[in-house]
Amino acid sequence: MPTIALDTRRTIAPIDPLIYGNFIEHLGRCIYGGVYEPGSKLSDKRGFRKDVLKLTRRLNVTNVRWPGGNFVSGYHWMDGVGPREARPKRMELAWHVVEPNQFGTDEFIEWCRAVPTEPFICVNMGSGAMDEAQAWVEYCNGKEDTHYANLRRQNGHAEPYGVKLWGLGNEVSGGWQIGSKTAERYAQDALEFAKVMKWTDPAIKLIACGSCMQNAEDMTWNRIAIEKLADICEYLSIHMYVNNNENNYANYMGTTAHIERFIGAVRGLMAGATYHRQGASRMKISFDEYNAWPGGERLEPHLPVYTLEDALVVGMFLNAFIRNADIVTLANMAQLVNVLPPIIARPNGLLLQSIFFPLELIANLNGTVALDAWVDCEDFESERYGKVPYLDVSASHDPDKSLVTLNMINRDKSYAAPVKVELGPGKFTDRATLHHVLGDGPKAQNTFKEPDNVTVVKLVADATGRKTTVELPPCSVTVMRVPVAG
Ligand code: AHR
Repeated sequence: MPTIALDTRRTIAPIDPLIYGNFIEHLGRCIYGGVYEPGSKLSDKRGFRKDVLKLTRRLNVTNVRWPGGNFVSGYHWMDGVGPREARPKRMELAWHVVEPNQFGTDEFIEWCRAVPTEPFICVNMGSGAMDEAQAWVEYCNGKEDTHYANLRRQNGHAEPYGVKLWGLGNEVSGGWQIGSKTAERYAQDALEFAKVMKWTDPAIKLIACGSCMQNAEDMTWNRIAIEKLADICEYLSIHMYVNNNENNYANYMGTTAHIERFIGAVRGLMAGATYHRQGASRMKISFDEYNAWPGGERLEPHLPVYTLEDALVVGMFLNAFIRNADIVTLANMAQLVNVLPPIIARPNGLLLQSIFFPLELIANLNGTVALDAWVDCEDFESERYGKVPYLDVSASHDPDKSLVTLNMINRDKSYAAPVKVELGPGKFTDRATLHHVLGDGPKAQNTFKEPDNVTVVKLVADATGRKTTVELPPCSVTVMRVPVAG
């Protein structure tokens, strides 16, 4: 029988709650018609969709990255503050639409407070200038009698916003980006941006722009960015999207290896670049865009229909973040609503896609410390990754509440796996609560007509003593939480 063994002394690191972040970009109907829809009967008086706010809370979203994405590389934040009627409409060159600038910095902060969640602002390092980025920090965080802090006050916001997380550009290496750059040029510019931003507010944390793909050039980019920026930036941003466009289940289920190798490679670069300092690198990974991005059916240009197998892949990302909790300390699913979304918001209602559920369960039910779970199970063959274990597992402990959590993905699409879970030392002291994300096979998907094809089934199982056995449905994500003692 497959076995998972846990020892609460075998810790990896504290789990940073910032790994349960999300992302909203001025793209498709993510902002306009997603989080913000003034005049809708579903919105509050500020224009925020109340139903979307409620679901954002359900996801325990700890931070939200904004305004892009590719959008930010042409965005000038001053267009989005001040009286709404005076804000300019701009040609938006990343996604080729008109940007009305009705949702800007003040609306974003107000929305974050309504959730509540921590704001993460990415600055424009495409067409934007260093002064503009500095002024944005001053506008948000300035406490003194200075121009941009006073502009915020004049716009009705007396108290500084205290925005801590600031990204230095988005996917600047990519040729599709407005103002893309070579690694050397980016690193030089980013260093100068970083200096003036931190001189404006030394409390901010900076996210250097890393690679958006996983090829050799991307790794060179990451190395150069880390070498130049590790002293001033707290994080390096990396992105990954995956899909099963080739319709090869075994390969898709091997995605764990792809994620782990990527994190491992960036971890190595960080260790190498800072080795001479005789201390561990303090730079961490911000996995600030991750998701499945399937081809095929689309409800809107950036709105794919997600299946159960995509939900398993989202579970794999989150499990990898927990297993690498010492280095992945910030992450953002891309994106929250209407664009690659767990949530679809239409003028008259909502739909939860399959990928909503693993994020909801893992973000809400895990403890504060990642555990190094030992997993013994059979493998299957995949052309791309070789042997892939049927189970993908991460675990955590909450010492204050005496709870352990197991996040278990059963990749077997036809077999309900009985799994033995052992604890030592210590014992399970009460019944386990299990939440299964499941559906009728890997291609199950939710639709407005059939919204519960992929759903969560909650069970309570006996768990006392040192061992317990649980059954994982085929092609499922299971989050199990159980009280422990000793
Ligand atoms: O999330 C959609 C897009 O994917 C983002 O704008 C960009 O950063 C990435 O390429």
